[in-house]
Amino acid sequence: MSADTQHGAPSGTHGRLGGVSDDAQHAVRFHDATKYYSLSETHPGDERIGIGDPAMRTGAIWQKDWDIKPFLYKVYETLPPIELGRDLPDAGRPALEAIAATGAEASGVVPDRALLGRLGLLTNGQLDRTWTTRDGRVHHYRTAGGTGAQYHLELYFVCTDLADLDAGVYHYCAIDHSLRLLRRGDFRAALVEATGNEPSIAAAPVVLVMTSTFWRNAWRYRERAYRHTYWDAGTSLSHILAVAASAHVATGLVFGYADPLVDALLDVDGVRESTVALVALGNSAARPRDAPAFGRLELATRRLSSAEVTFHAITDLHLASGLRTGGQAAQWRSRRWHRPARPPAGELTELRPLPDERLDPRPVEQIILRRRSTRNYDTDAEVAFDAFSTLLERSTRGVVSDVLTPGAPLTELYLIVNAVQGLAPGLYRHHPGRNAVELLRAGDFREDAARIAARQQYAGDAHVNLYYLAHLPSILQRYGDRGYRLAQLEGALHAGKLHLGTHALGLGAVGSTAFDDEVADFFSPHADGQDYMFVTVFGRRRRAR
Ligand SMILES: Cc1cc2nc3c(=O)[nH]c(=O)nc-3n(C[C@H](O)[C@H](O)[C@H](O)COP(=O)(O)O)c2cc1C
Repeated sequence: MSADTQHGAPSGTHGRLGGVSDDAQHAVRFHDATKYYSLSETHPGDERIGIGDPAMRTGAIWQKDWDIKPFLYKVYETLPPIELGRDLPDAGRPALEAIAATGAEASGVVPDRALLGRLGLLTNGQLDRTWTTRDGRVHHYRTAGGTGAQYHLELYFVCTDLADLDAGVYHYCAIDHSLRLLRRGDFRAALVEATGNEPSIAAAPVVLVMTSTFWRNAWRYRERAYRHTYWDAGTSLSHILAVAASAHVATGLVFGYADPLVDALLDVDGVRESTVALVALGNSAARPRDAPAFGRLELATRRLSSAEVTFHAITDLHLASGLRTGGQAAQWRSRRWHRPARPPAGELTELRPLPDERLDPRPVEQIILRRRSTRNYDTDAEVAFDAFSTLLERSTRGVVSDVLTPGAPLTELYLIVNAVQGLAPGLYRHHPGRNAVELLRAGDFREDAARIAARQQYAGDAHVNLYYLAHLPSILQRYGDRGYRLAQLEGALHAGKLHLGTHALGLGAVGSTAFDDEVADFFSPHADGQDYMFVTVFGRRRRAR
């Protein structure tokens, strides 16, 4: 299938990251090679975004060949669809409660077919809303946002016998909102083995496996698509976790697994399509019995493009950051750690979130259907301080996971506050443990906000910009190349929660991108050698006049 290859990861200079150990060098090189810059720095007058180190800098947005634009769905052509309902609860847990949940539910609720349908529909499902590409193709938007709407994620379920669904390995097909049965029988033990006996997986009646088909995003974004893999996965996982929490189903995110074993169970090749996260859904005492033997499936899927391009920087880092056995997964997980919070040096403002009784009672399922990206903000208005506080507090409680620790994020959150009632405009750092923000520098930074967010005006107009920065040397030292996946994903997961929360408060948000080194310079010296991982912005929408 592969028609072409792109060797796009130059050695780079990676000054600050130079001291990182050998098992993280792929991540260091990749990070440097996929930084965004303003091309005008090296090519005066060229206003495009550039990617790569100065010697090899080139235009970042690829999509040069519309003849090979990928189809954005995986469709098993020979398997019959298993229908799913579309009914959603119209009452239940308030959205902001479900969004904030860590997944540590004690209810014992076991997922059923309707929940699998809701998870698929409200994460990867298509909306009626469409857009037409310049070559005349009509695409559907999906329920979760994604970089450039180049939807590249797929969902699979591995389950025991449920009340209304037989044990099996299923693919969720977004194009017709259905399941396809890939393997019949209870294969959960294969995931227990692949994760080195991770307890949440061993106790889960259902495990959701999320994959990415890199080419679907790389067609537009080249090598940077690998960062997007984890940004979009984090965004989509925020939907999965909130929908499960809404149904009182316990969740556990798992990142320590033997990649080839999980990929083999789904029969994906691990190079073109690869597993990016597991989610344990539900919690029961019965551990799975041995899985039946399984081999290749050899099932035909619809062709995505007449030719595909392999970006070696992506496949090299993905393979280098892989774990090969369950034993390796358990060992990697045992490195679990979080960077100690740095104490504040500046003035603190305590957050004052809305009390529970003032939360919008609508459940998250209703909110998700209303969610859209907002790029048009009302620069004449402010965001209320209690709404700002609620969003920060509820989006950063963290999640139950094999490596991430609730309340102790790997990334640090820096804010550009443009217009929040009662808060001086300026730069702030969030201190989740103190439920406060620290003023770093007061001032009007709207112009800088638009500039560092890759010259996107909406960042200057939005009321708040949130930058998730990571001290990569510490993370990579601890977790090796695989730590890069975590560092990229965590901020997007919190931002995904925040995005849903804005809609429950009558506000709007959009995920974004940024010029890496300009971000680091802008937050310097406060950001202490940290790198930009993710940015999102939110605020009050400007109503049509
Ligand atoms: C991780 C992430 C990064 C994004 N980055 C940008 C961006 O830099 N600029 C932009 O205009 N939109 C950005 N978006 C918004 C997407 O373009 C949008 O989600 C997609 O077109 C689908 O539209 P919808 O969110 O309204 O459903 C981003 C979205 C996500 C999830």
